[in-house]
Amino acid sequence: MYRRPILAANWKMNKGPSETQDFVKSFIQKSSERFSADIVIAAPFLCLPALSESLREVDGVEMAAQNCSQFDDGAYTGEISVKMLRQVLVRHVIIGHSERRSIFGETNAVINAKMKKAREVGLKLIFCIGETLEERNAGQLEAVLSSQIIEGLAGLTLEDLDHTVIAYEPVWAIGTGVTATAEQAQEAHAYVRSVVASIYGEEAAQKMRIQYGGSVKPNNAAELMACPDIDGALIGGASLDAQSFFDIIKNGVPA
Ligand code: 13P
Repeated sequence: MYRRPILAANWKMNKGPSETQDFVKSFIQKSSERFSADIVIAAPFLCLPALSESLREVDGVEMAAQNCSQFDDGAYTGEISVKMLRQVLVRHVIIGHSERRSIFGETNAVINAKMKKAREVGLKLIFCIGETLEERNAGQLEAVLSSQIIEGLAGLTLEDLDHTVIAYEPVWAIGTGVTATAEQAQEAHAYVRSVVASIYGEEAAQKMRIQYGGSVKPNNAAELMACPDIDGALIGGASLDAQSFFDIIKNGVPA
């Protein structure tokens, strides 16, 4: 089944509003043609209005937030609600990134609550999962991924799944320069798809796009993206530079 590739930049806590405008200017200069892929930029909250403004002239690039609150509104100091994200024209939200899980203590239950809240306002989900090196070495890869998927997606409907991309990001490959081999990544992706099939059925699983994340660079994008179950990439460090993000797209998605 054809699945349109989806490549997303995750800037993490890098760039402010002015660097955001510079990035988009430089990115537009390179991309005169439309890509045969969905392109998403996940910027810090504070950059989203500037990004929205800059992207007005750019066809086919959408915005994502990197997180959202699981609550509607009220006394939650420092939080950002899904309704606020909609007001600044955000279309996607990353939920469950390993940095949110490990540094900010987000559990599968919290991640599940955030995903449900985001779907209430129609946000599309980029749902991150992945194992640590200790878990992989202890033979727990499948157990970790399946519980992250089952608990993370609990109560989400088939329609919600239609608006969900899973990002498989092995924690040991994030920001380390160590990429999973194409074989390791393909194996994990095929397993993720089989878990989704066991919950939602084979057809839904075949439609679902699964991104790989973890030290994706211009020089490894093509090999990773050529794997049958890899439908895109979630890119951290190498997405901060417009040229490098552009090269990943160009190399990863044949025109
Ligand atoms: P790096 O590409 O810097 O390894 O980060 C991957 C990531 O965490 C994207 O969400």
